[in-house]
Amino acid sequence: MSIISNCTASAIKDAASSLISGKLVAFPTETVYGLGADATNKEAVARIYKVKGRPSGHPLIVHISSLGLLDKWARDIPEYALRLARDFWPGPMTLILPRTELAKDFITGGQDNIGIRVPSHTVALSLLKEFEALGGTGVAAPSANKFGAVSPTNSNDVEIELGDYLTREDLILDGGPSLVGIESTIIDCTESMPSILRPGGITKGMIEQILVDTIISDNSNSFINKIKAPGLLESHYAPKANVFLTGEPKRGDGLIALSNVNTPEGVQRLASPINNEQFAQQLYVALRSADEKNLQNVFVVPPSGDDIAVAINDRLKKASYR
Ligand code: TXA
Ligand code: MG
Repeated sequence: MSIISNCTASAIKDAASSLISGKLVAFPTETVYGLGADATNKEAVARIYKVKGRPSGHPLIVHISSLGLLDKWARDIPEYALRLARDFWPGPMTLILPRTELAKDFITGGQDNIGIRVPSHTVALSLLKEFEALGGTGVAAPSANKFGAVSPTNSNDVEIELGDYLTREDLILDGGPSLVGIESTIIDCTESMPSILRPGGITKGMIEQILVDTIISDNSNSFINKIKAPGLLESHYAPKANVFLTGEPKRGDGLIALSNVNTPEGVQRLASPINNEQFAQQLYVALRSADEKNLQNVFVVPPSGDDIAVAINDRLKKASYR
């Protein structure tokens, strides 16, 4: 496996050819790094599951370069979904829609729906455009981590997670640290009203501003969510260290909190973000650093608010679940 640290136009073209020929290419997105494969290539997609150690039946998100390609993968698209796509793509939002013939069971986990997203990171967009220029229709990409582990937000963390499982011809594209830092908002668009299955950078408030007359349900904690998005388990996004959201850290423990929270004597401060956006950006790197330092316990003071704090708290709940 090679890490491409200088993603020139020609390097991105080569990476697109690698995808076409069935290789895996890990690439940066604005949310987290993804492990990409040609979404129509059954063998290549099977390798994603193998490399991640991910149970089959957990559906994958297909990435495309523009709204214009949505029809290839999805049908019966409700008007509200088109409005969301026009406003928030490219960006950290995944829509779940009824699938077309192109979306096989090996992508959707046998569900009749497809998850689809247009990422905004320039390297991701260029890679998708080059891939489509070579005849590709979409790149399946889960987060580039082992199953259940913390998603990587830079190329070095992809290598730490998956380096041992990729082959010589697979690639990791480096596009710097992911700016959002946590995974996309997933919105179920298969019913008459949208519902949020996983909170993310596109918040409920932002969605409500676009769909003024529509009721948006939040199913990110519900039973429906477990049926519809089988990858969204209680325990996920978890480092090896125990994560606590209440209680006081003791000497030798780690602490992640907004900068206005003091660090008790002997406690290792892992992140001091100044606002919730920075909290999201730094969270996964901070959780990973707990494992690098071999800490047993990490205490996190959860941020509050109805902005990206909702998504941070969703991930923290899963990271701390035992
Ligand atoms: O930000 C993101 O969404 C990142 C970047 C790489 O795009 N990707 C990502 O993929 O987080 P992944 O596989 O780690 O998490 C996607 C989750 C799955 O666990 C699954 O529950 C849900 O999305 N999902 C995907 N396709 C679905 C579908 N057809 N129906 C229901 N849920 C789906
Ligand atoms: Mg994931």
